[in-house]
Amino acid sequence: MPPTIRTLFDEGRIAARTREMAEEIAAADPRDLLAVAVLKGSFMFAADLLRAMHGAGLTPQVEFVHLSSYGAGTESSGRVTVVRDIDSDVAGRAVLLVDDILESGRTLAFARDLLLGRGARRVLVAVMLEKPGKRAVPMDAEFVGFTCPDLFVVGYGMDAAHRFRQLPFIGVVEG
Ligand code: IMP
Ligand code: MG
Repeated sequence: MPPTIRTLFDEGRIAARTREMAEEIAAADPRDLLAVAVLKGSFMFAADLLRAMHGAGLTPQVEFVHLSSYGAGTESSGRVTVVRDIDSDVAGRAVLLVDDILESGRTLAFARDLLLGRGARRVLVAVMLEKPGKRAVPMDAEFVGFTCPDLFVVGYGMDAAHRFRQLPFIGVVEG
């Protein structure tokens, strides 16, 4: 029997909110923007957000950084490592970090500090989901899709032990 997934955010809601977020990003008037998608979890959101950003009149350059903090389980190990770095020089650039979910904040705080340490002029953060009350380090995102209940969610790029990333919606595994 395939597992049952209870939908929390369906495709239509995600698409509508992603378009709004692109307009919010455009309103922040980020010139010379470099979008950096944090792999693996952000791949689907980043693809949709970047297309929506084009629709909102933005012309970002696009990069990818692969960070790892979770291993195969559902508990963060607390230690963030760079699996694959970006190729671009970020000195003087406005960077938009794009990630799936902001939870402890360790991943995005690490990424932000890495880029600021390399001389990025400004680091903005866009996440599809934010889990409130879970921060282990100070970290905020300027652009948040939805507030996420305190549940381990999957789909729309997010996995449980490398499964469920392909789902076009966000949900919870119910067995
Ligand atoms: P943080 O470092 O604790 O903020 O979380 C960073 C990463 O953990 C996110 O980018 C996700 O890849 C992963 N993560 C956190 N919560 C969840 C969840 O509920 N489902 C799937 N992945 C999660
Ligand atoms: Mg991630």
